[in-house]
Amino acid sequence: MIPIQIKQEGELLSYLVEKNKNLLQELKRLNIQINDGCDGKLTCGACHVQINSQKSQLNITDDEKDMLQFVPGVKGNSRLACGVLVEDSLTDSIITVVKQE
Ligand code: FES
Repeated sequence: MIPIQIKQEGELLSYLVEKNKNLLQELKRLNIQINDGCDGKLTCGACHVQINSQKSQLNITDDEKDMLQFVPGVKGNSRLACGVLVEDSLTDSIITVVKQE
């Protein structure tokens, strides 16, 4: 299991997510409120998160990069949760779920 922290409504809470699982599925398993308009198919941009990681750069696919171009409020650490594989580099990351306007 990989320890992470989720920032929600000003609170920072600690969780464990399972390695090699999809981050969106893990957030949903933990009952974290996150939009998933395309059910994790990387086509809607609704599962926007920002990941502050102390480790090396997390892997990102070209498909996810392409989709992020259409997501409002994207920052350098923005990711689509359904495009993120839980791996060691996520250890101790602080993940913020970005609310859709
Ligand atoms: S749920 Fe649609 S892009 Fe992630």
